[in-house]
Amino acid sequence: MKKLWGGRFQKTPEAWVDEFNASITFDKQLVEEDIQGSLVHVKMLAKCGILTKEEGEAIEKGLHRLLEKAKNGELEYSVQYEDIHLNIEKMLIDEIGPIGGKLHTSRSRNDQVATDMHLYLKKHVEAIVELIRELQKALVNKAEQHIETILPGYTHLQRAQPVSFAHHLLAYFWMLERDKSRFTESLKRINISPLGAAALAGTTFPIDRKYTAELLGFDEVYLNSLDAVSDRDFIVEFMSNSSLLMIHLSRFCEELILWCSQEFQFVEMDDAYSTGSSIMPQKKNPDMAELIRGKSGRVVGNLVGLLTVLKGLPLAYNKDLQEDKEGMFDTVKTVEGCLQIMTGMIETLKVNKEQMEKSVKQDFSNATELADYLAKKGLPFREAHEVVGKLVYKCIQKGIYLLDLPLEEYKEASSLFENDVYEVLNPYEAVNKRNSLGGTGFKEVKEQINKAKAII
Ligand code: ARG
Repeated sequence: MKKLWGGRFQKTPEAWVDEFNASITFDKQLVEEDIQGSLVHVKMLAKCGILTKEEGEAIEKGLHRLLEKAKNGELEYSVQYEDIHLNIEKMLIDEIGPIGGKLHTSRSRNDQVATDMHLYLKKHVEAIVELIRELQKALVNKAEQHIETILPGYTHLQRAQPVSFAHHLLAYFWMLERDKSRFTESLKRINISPLGAAALAGTTFPIDRKYTAELLGFDEVYLNSLDAVSDRDFIVEFMSNSSLLMIHLSRFCEELILWCSQEFQFVEMDDAYSTGSSIMPQKKNPDMAELIRGKSGRVVGNLVGLLTVLKGLPLAYNKDLQEDKEGMFDTVKTVEGCLQIMTGMIETLKVNKEQMEKSVKQDFSNATELADYLAKKGLPFREAHEVVGKLVYKCIQKGIYLLDLPLEEYKEASSLFENDVYEVLNPYEAVNKRNSLGGTGFKEVKEQINKAKAII
């Protein structure tokens, strides 16, 4: 079969070489963007008098027919024609005759593919921003129901101080808020048109790049044709933002996995987001959370993969750049899927309030309250820390908790202790009183929820 670029060739590659070279098996995902780009290009060619009005109209009509077929899944691609651009061009020529061959005037696959990818990413980044917003909504809803649900807060995975469950959930809300703002901010750099950069050097035809950019909804045009066709920094940035988002999700998933274990029993995952074991009848596994945690690996891998492809590449286009696509598609699919699953998981999550509260009463996470109590009465904090540390040690020896220690023993440790010590030891109060800005106090958490709601 003759290639569209076959003029200077005596032989065509063997089928297996064609297959190695081709990207059609995956870049067919760009079909709508590709035709959209061509439609705009041909409109411009006619407007600028590079093609006649009639030629322009004939090509447009053909492209519209192909777009319709693409939407109905009726196009049949061939590896022979390498990629989506040549496949569509070939189909156009088959559809409307040799005049279809005029579409590629003053254009190259190099600016074409870059244009397709900018259009594709713009669409998906906008979708991802909305999916993050949905997850944030689920978090705020859940948080609102659990302002006064308390659980141990951890550092080093050791019980540290009790916190409000809403506060814990909202921590992820703010991480997601920054993720969202990174994606939104990146749109500025995605929303730039490479179209008209041609192969690498621009063109001698009197094209109008600003016109095509405007029709495609781009805010700007690349000001350097070499840059326009050869950089993939907008994809790297997308992958980097996606990696960070996935890292946030993976941390959250790790906590959910811990929390629904027998050891914690803080939450129960809905059946719809769990699976059973083929051998152990009692098992209910948090597979979805584990998968999200695991899929962060491929998203980071895709980022490192593309960075490595780009490293050391000379200007301008090199075929290496074809390797940008699968990782990008995979990242989009993974991130969109994970966000949707995560939202459903949070919406349906059962929170075991009693178990959380019970565990807060069976630890020393109120020890800081005691030290603060003494410090408020004038004892230097460092000394208060020492006094309380000794009391904790004593309790451990006796197998009791701070609330169980009789007042005489408190007084023995420091004359500053009074009967009101038991009040500050109450974990509910320990949380309630932490109303410093951004703290876990109930009043402050309500304030945070209001701010979160105003954002979404
Ligand atoms: N399939 C190619 C890619 O994905 C399109 C651009 C090819 N350009 C070229 N001059 N071979 O990068």
